Amino acid sequence: MIIVCPSCHRQHKVDETRLSEKVKAAKCVFCGHRFPIPRPSGGEPEGAKAPQPQQAAQEPQWPKRRIAVSLSKGGVGKTTTAVNLAAGLAMAGFKVLLVDTDTQGQASYMLGVKPKAGLTELMTGEVIPEECLVQARERLWLLAGGRSLAGVKRLIARKDFRGEMTLSEALTPMDDRFDYVIVDTSPGWDVLTINVLFYVKEVLIPVSLEVMAIQGLLEFSRSLASVQNYHKDLVLKYVVPTFLDKRVKQSEEILEQLSAHYNSRLCAPIRYNVRLSEAPGYGKTIYEYAPGSPGARDYRDLVRRVAGDETLLS
Ligand SMILES: Nc1ncnc2c1ncn2[C@@H]1O[C@H](COP(=O)(O)OP(=O)(O)O)[C@@H](O)[C@H]1O
Ligand SMILES: [Mg+2]
Repeated sequence: MIIVCPSCHRQHKVDETRLSEKVKAAKCVFCGHRFPIPRPSGGEPEGAKAPQPQQAAQEPQWPKRRIAVSLSKGGVGKTTTAVNLAAGLAMAGFKVLLVDTDTQGQASYMLGVKPKAGLTELMTGEVIPEECLVQARERLWLLAGGRSLAGVKRLIARKDFRGEMTLSEALTPMDDRFDYVIVDTSPGWDVLTINVLFYVKEVLIPVSLEVMAIQGLLEFSRSLASVQNYHKDLVLKYVVPTFLDKRVKQSEEILEQLSAHYNSRLCAPIRYNVRLSEAPGYGKTIYEYAPGSPGARDYRDLVRRVAGDETLLS
């Protein structure tokens, strides 16, 4: 069911089968307001949008979102952003699937899990989908990447027909149980990147505030446009500046240029924060490792921004 916060009017999706009768109050993840949970009393629960069964079967009550975190340049904070965005959305109450499409397989390392199977096994059909998924945290599941994805790329390249849809065909049958699918991508531009862009509808680009990364951003935007010619629903939704260091004058200048070019798509920057580089070594997200750090605050803001757009969509 959907519960609407009476203070900020944002919507929360709640799995009512897991909501005990004893729980009387809820706290809004967006504004922190506490309010009584509306319960059905014979009729429709107040503030809840209960669709007719037939309607529910045709269109999901909560729009499922698929977001790629992508840029051809390495070291700009893609994996850090994908992991902490996915973990933050899960903490906010959404069911999230994080898909790692990088041969380095760093998402599992950052989350401190060692999956036996992952995206490769799902795509080759060697293992049933349930066994490819690893639950990394409450409401957060991971389809791990790794070296074996090189074999998947060869498999895609050998296809005569619709190779670009291989990832979509593997993920679509099992992704409807999630509110969000966040896809981390590898640096570079290859068949797997193209597959990711044909699967998702939204792209989030983390861009480190340095001249080289801005060049990479322009190049990537051109490649993205070539995919958009064939995949009309694909939108560049968010540009997230990373490694902001206020002491570096260049950072501020680049930020201004980005703001002029991307306007409302530009998100609040993620500051350079050493805690973000330390957290993976402990297999922890930034919220677990240093919840009070600037890094945790910045990623919480990003989660609010992305989840806030959800309410606009519904
Ligand atoms: N805002 C930040 N401040 C400090 N270090 C960061 C920040 N974001 C990422 N890092 C570190 O920088 C390195 C590259 O980040 P990563 O997310 O792996 O980039 P990519 O996936 O684009 O290659 C990693 O060691 C990561 O821990
Ligand atoms: Mg990475």
